[in-house]
Amino acid sequence: MYIENQWYLACLVEELSKKNPLHKKICGRELVLFKTNSGKISVLEDRCCHRNVRLSLGCIHNEHIQCGYHGWEYNQEGKCVNIPSLPSRERIPAGAKITSYHFEIKHRSVWVWIGNPELMDSTLIPPMHEMDNYPRVYNYHEVEADLQLVAESLFDAYHINHVHKHSIKTFMGNIYDEKIDFHLKKTDHSLEGSYLRKNDGSFFEKYYFGFSKMVETHFGFWFPNVSKLDIRFKNRHMVIYEHFYQIDEHKVMMCQITLWKNILDFFPPFARWFMLQKSIKIVREDLVFLADNKRIKSSTGKSDLLIKSDEVTFEFMQLWKRKIQQHEELVAQED
Ligand code: FES
Ligand SMILES: [Fe+2]
Repeated sequence: MYIENQWYLACLVEELSKKNPLHKKICGRELVLFKTNSGKISVLEDRCCHRNVRLSLGCIHNEHIQCGYHGWEYNQEGKCVNIPSLPSRERIPAGAKITSYHFEIKHRSVWVWIGNPELMDSTLIPPMHEMDNYPRVYNYHEVEADLQLVAESLFDAYHINHVHKHSIKTFMGNIYDEKIDFHLKKTDHSLEGSYLRKNDGSFFEKYYFGFSKMVETHFGFWFPNVSKLDIRFKNRHMVIYEHFYQIDEHKVMMCQITLWKNILDFFPPFARWFMLQKSIKIVREDLVFLADNKRIKSSTGKSDLLIKSDEVTFEFMQLWKRKIQQHEELVAQED
């Protein structure tokens, strides 16, 4: 079952070129995104209605997308507007059109609505304000994994000390105190919180980020597909967003977006390179534990065994369960 009637971040605007269309698959839908010569963006079903080949194999032709097979052209609404081989007295068939998707451009990203257009609500796009103006890098990973586990993987505070011991442990980890106050704030579809952790960085890290004893860490989750980890060192700020969704019944997409402010400003290309390397390493470390082939099903059918300090996980699970139930009820009503 796909989680529908939701916004999905189909791509960042910098993924779109004026030359080539972009293919994405979200919740089983094949999509093609393209930007016309005048800069207008469109999201269509990735299928030419002539012989059902992928439109994303074609190219952008002025204000249209052109199929690479026989050159049929579609406008931004998915209507076929030119057939090169059409005999001069014939008209383009009325049925020569494909589905166009509703989308919004927000946070320098293209958000596609997957589901019933009548339920579309722009206010449900998560508030990712750092995406509006911070420098950013991104990377995508496809994995066969449990969507719920992936959803929680970024803001699980206690895994950093272990899973990321070779990358960001000193930088982001170090919570051993069992009485952490997570300052949880809940809404119908989100969970946000913050905590202080010990600054155990190396001398170099402390010199750069500050010698204060504690470092402020914020996190968030917006059902069903965005999580956030946000670390603050005085005027320096680093934010990681994870966007995750089912590609199809087997695979999950994880898109990690790293943003920063006042970090490595002396040479922005180096900052981008550095952040991208770090980001890829972090995701790879997580995948060791998230991928289905690395996990074991309980032979007794028992579910997770949570303890008191797993408070955030517990709240997340409650939220996830409630929203999935709501979604199932809605699907049942529509059927
Ligand atoms: S299959 Fe697309 S134009 Fe023929
Ligand atoms: Fe992680």
